[in-house]
Amino acid sequence: MSKKGLFLFPSIMAICLSACAVKNYEAKDYVLKMNYSDDFRILQLTDTHVGDKDNMKLHYDFMDLTIKDANPDLIVITGDVFTFASKGTAKEFFNWLEGHNVPWTLTFGNHDEQCFFSIDWLTGYLNGLNAKREKDGSSHCYFKDLQDDNIQGNSNFIINLMNGENAFEQLVIMDSNRYNYKGYFGYDYFHQDQIDWYSRCVEASVPSLMFYHIPLPEVRDAWAAAKEDQSLILNPVGEGQQNEEPCNPDYNSGFYKVIKEKGSTHGMYFGHDHINNYIINYDGIHFGYGIKATDRVYADDSMLGGRVIKLANDHSLSYEDIYHTYAEVK
Ligand SMILES: [Fe+2]
Repeated sequence: MSKKGLFLFPSIMAICLSACAVKNYEAKDYVLKMNYSDDFRILQLTDTHVGDKDNMKLHYDFMDLTIKDANPDLIVITGDVFTFASKGTAKEFFNWLEGHNVPWTLTFGNHDEQCFFSIDWLTGYLNGLNAKREKDGSSHCYFKDLQDDNIQGNSNFIINLMNGENAFEQLVIMDSNRYNYKGYFGYDYFHQDQIDWYSRCVEASVPSLMFYHIPLPEVRDAWAAAKEDQSLILNPVGEGQQNEEPCNPDYNSGFYKVIKEKGSTHGMYFGHDHINNYIINYDGIHFGYGIKATDRVYADDSMLGGRVIKLANDHSLSYEDIYHTYAEVK
């Protein structure tokens, strides 16, 4: 190696190491804060699946019906937000969300990587909107992906609903990931580092609700229990349906056991299986499929809209299921 090479080598190594560096963040670094208000109304939308070839105005008009009915304090989209969407479509979708002047957040589903942008671009864009909100309130987006934390997934963060100085409830937003490529396909699962993240970041003394995309395998146990005891179903009588087998990961990574041991989470809300809509009180935790928000990909046209999760001042939960049809906006 020449003298010049000897001089440059340590500098290049230092640059590489800093570029590849992984940071260990503290629990507080993942937390965003939002004010709790009495009888807080969270509108869950799910599986919008919007893409470039869609009639977006029709989707917006349709979802506006649900949002108007819900009168939410927060909108949460539980994944599969986009499918075959470009950056322009994604930005337009976020502009539409912002137009409601309501706080909103989202997590990713397995289809959100099937777009004309990378997940890293998407998280970067959402981090940017969140920064605008924190800087001058010019966004309503709550989102935080620490891209250099080396935790599996791209949307693991917590929104603390604050009552004065104290966290009243934690909303735990997690990425249930996409496909299990190393296991030769099938759906991915919550990885051990995410489970460790939950253990470290969720406060046992504060009740919490979780939002993610692919249901945990235990959703099957919940449905089996509800078939034996219909009173466990929390939808209006006769409306909680399972019309398809849950498409869970084949591998159970043991997350539910950790959640139970922690004792904080009392409701978890997901999507993924478009024609299931039940909420079941299983083992002290509400397992809730969302109501699909658009007619994209596959859907039951009579099961479209959204759900309001009502969080009362005593932390009890109740629900309003909202249904609309596209015939109302065509
Ligand atoms: Fe989906």
